[in-house]
Amino acid sequence: MIYNPLKERYEKMNYRRCGKSGILLPEISLGLWHNFGGVDVFENFRKILWKAFDAGITHFDLANNYGPPPGSAEENFGIIMKKDFVSLRDELIISTKAGWEMWPGPYGNFGSRKYLLASLDQSLKRMQLEYVDIFYSHRPDPDTPLEETMGALAQAVHQGKALYAGISSYPAETTREAAGILKSMGVNCLIHQPVYSMFNRWVENGLLDALEDTGMGCIPFSPLAQGLLTNKYLKGIPEDSRAFKPTGFLKMEDVTEQRILKAGKLDKIASGRNQTLAEMAIAWLLKDQRITSVLVGVSSAAQLDDNLKALENLAFSEDELKQIESILTGE
Ligand SMILES: NC(=O)c1ccc[n+]([C@@H]2O[C@H](COP(=O)([O-])OP(=O)(O)OC[C@H]3O[C@@H](n4cnc5c(N)ncnc54)[C@H](OP(=O)(O)O)[C@@H]3O)[C@@H](O)[C@H]2O)c1
Repeated sequence: MIYNPLKERYEKMNYRRCGKSGILLPEISLGLWHNFGGVDVFENFRKILWKAFDAGITHFDLANNYGPPPGSAEENFGIIMKKDFVSLRDELIISTKAGWEMWPGPYGNFGSRKYLLASLDQSLKRMQLEYVDIFYSHRPDPDTPLEETMGALAQAVHQGKALYAGISSYPAETTREAAGILKSMGVNCLIHQPVYSMFNRWVENGLLDALEDTGMGCIPFSPLAQGLLTNKYLKGIPEDSRAFKPTGFLKMEDVTEQRILKAGKLDKIASGRNQTLAEMAIAWLLKDQRITSVLVGVSSAAQLDDNLKALENLAFSEDELKQIESILTGE
């Protein structure tokens, strides 16, 4: 099959400026953490990528360790890049990361310059790319000087192997420091990728302010709490779910009664807005203009279709917000 991208692909999507940079990102981006690995079905995830690009999703997010096995999501993405997107490279923002365990021994984990730069070379090879648009430090490393980790990001940018630098899961204070160090090396930190959803709101406690102050964009990951903020688990744990699959990061014990009870209540509010719970959970994040893009994962093109509908209604009444707040903060 040959992919012919939809001509109208930019008509429905809105793009937001990423912090104080020149880059615009789609309000919804696609992550390849699950469902794109060696254990997954090639024609399924190929269709997801087509559907995404046809909908104006210009940003695909990867990391060295996505799979399983680790590295296979980048390899699969590289194959599809070559087959379907090679002439569209300049219309895409492709990111990758290093920071979690990738190879054995002392140089395949965390934040050393040795690990980050070697990993980026490996990622480029797997994805058959000359450069990535964003290279992230995937997590803070308590034992490596921040100057060293940021120095590796800056070097990747100076070498042209990455166009921009990003950080993921850094706390507010370290984020401010990281931004300052990168700036002193002539590089603006483009973006921060934190976990953020209705079920995990740590970023509201200082990080979003730090991002605004430093001019960084924000792209929340796991906005649907890995599926808990959808209708997927309202009636139990289905076999075709991340929680059921042995390779899923979401564990059965994460599907707690309390979370499902809250999801059920939120689902009712979503219905009143003519949205699914997934749509409302995405809209709820995008109501804040400091959020540049919401980074979703999907296991099917149909799920992506559903998530994209979120963009049709991003406005919340005071009353809806109050009801949501009381569900989220209630025990
Ligand atoms: N920086 C980091 O440390 C980090 C960590 C984690 C993730 N990320 C990035 O963030 C991306 C998204 O993370 P995530 O996959 O956890 O995000 P998520 O959007 O919270 O969860 C995705 C899962 O939710 C379910 N889902 C999605 N849309 C649905 C819908 N409309 N209806 C019903 N179920 C739906 C699917 O589960 P089923 O598979 O069960 O169908 C899907 O696999 C990753 O791919 C990765 O790029 C980054």
